[in-house]
Amino acid sequence: STVDWEFGSYDTGGHEHYLVKEIHEQPAAVERTLRGRLDDRFHTAHLGGLNLDARELREIRRVKILGCGSAYYAGEMGAQLVEELARIPAHAEPASEFRYRNPVIEADTLYIAVSQSGETYDTLAAVQEVKRKGGRVLGVVNTVGSAIARACDGGVYLHAGPEISVASTKAFTSTVVAFALLALHFGRIHDLSPAEGRRICAGLKALPDQIREILAQEQRIAELAAEYAKHDGMMFIGRVRGWPVAREGAQKLKEVSYVHAEAYPASELKHGPLALISPELPTVAVVPDDELLDKNLTTLGEIRARSGRVLTVGHRVPDARLADHAITVPKNEPELDPLLLSIPLQLLAYHAAVALERDVDKPRNLAKSVTVE
Ligand code: AGP
Repeated sequence: STVDWEFGSYDTGGHEHYLVKEIHEQPAAVERTLRGRLDDRFHTAHLGGLNLDARELREIRRVKILGCGSAYYAGEMGAQLVEELARIPAHAEPASEFRYRNPVIEADTLYIAVSQSGETYDTLAAVQEVKRKGGRVLGVVNTVGSAIARACDGGVYLHAGPEISVASTKAFTSTVVAFALLALHFGRIHDLSPAEGRRICAGLKALPDQIREILAQEQRIAELAAEYAKHDGMMFIGRVRGWPVAREGAQKLKEVSYVHAEAYPASELKHGPLALISPELPTVAVVPDDELLDKNLTTLGEIRARSGRVLTVGHRVPDARLADHAITVPKNEPELDPLLLSIPLQLLAYHAAVALERDVDKPRNLAKSVTVE
């Protein structure tokens, strides 16, 4: 019938669930987010819908990013990208908190609202609060013509394609790519050199194939997920660039598998949560090959000394005394590594949910888009 045909393009495409289909669509989604936006002459990004010229952008002193759930965690990665590449102070906050706390709105702050659906009520209310007080808001949104997209002064569409599964994966990844483009654009207007711009452009172009390489490890990640899902809870840790990776990894696991997951900055463990470590609470540690590698390895030693099991996600396999299992991902530029480190954690959550026979695409108590207060 006509209805079947209309829904045909939204079927699971031979996959068992929308979630895993959308995880596998990520190389193509990233290609669409990047398409036509990289400038190989000036080593920058072109973003047609910002409605902000270079002079206006130079007057921005701060960036404030607002979103809920995974959109907020993608915004945390975005804030790090903006600070690192453009050296503009940037901070992400849950839109659901921001809207209730009489925020100070400043003329030289650029507000950026993040939403896959473009219909999340808390994020829309935050945008309206900023606009009501005279602030300028950009949207990083997937759904064209959505309420949040229409309420913003300009923005970047993700072009990730429709996301059906309640748990966000490809929109999360495309959001981080969109922030990398924004940060590159802001950076090249400020002090990011052409050579540095070229380095980031090359890193962005490498992402789709690197994501494919990670997806090719699915079988092994599924086996690890089935083993780790036997535990009642898991700890996720990361430092600086690894911290939003850990937060999003914990969120994915919670929402689709219902396994309790705590996310902490690795540096905070000794300030309290180390008391939780035992053989019953394994740790997923995000351990990129960056300037904090040694610090992270020391943390793994502290966990192992308390008989904690450790699964690392990083660029190399640590010494067997520091980790029980390791998932490795291809190395990109340090600023773009968090995006790639997040992909195995999506597969881990998905396969944990499958092993526990959860309702993967429609987890209990959750809606795809929360359009009420
Ligand atoms: C993601 O896996 C969640 N289902 C949820 O946190 C979601 O990201 C959040 O509700 C925001 O949705 P939005 O991007 O459509 O605004």
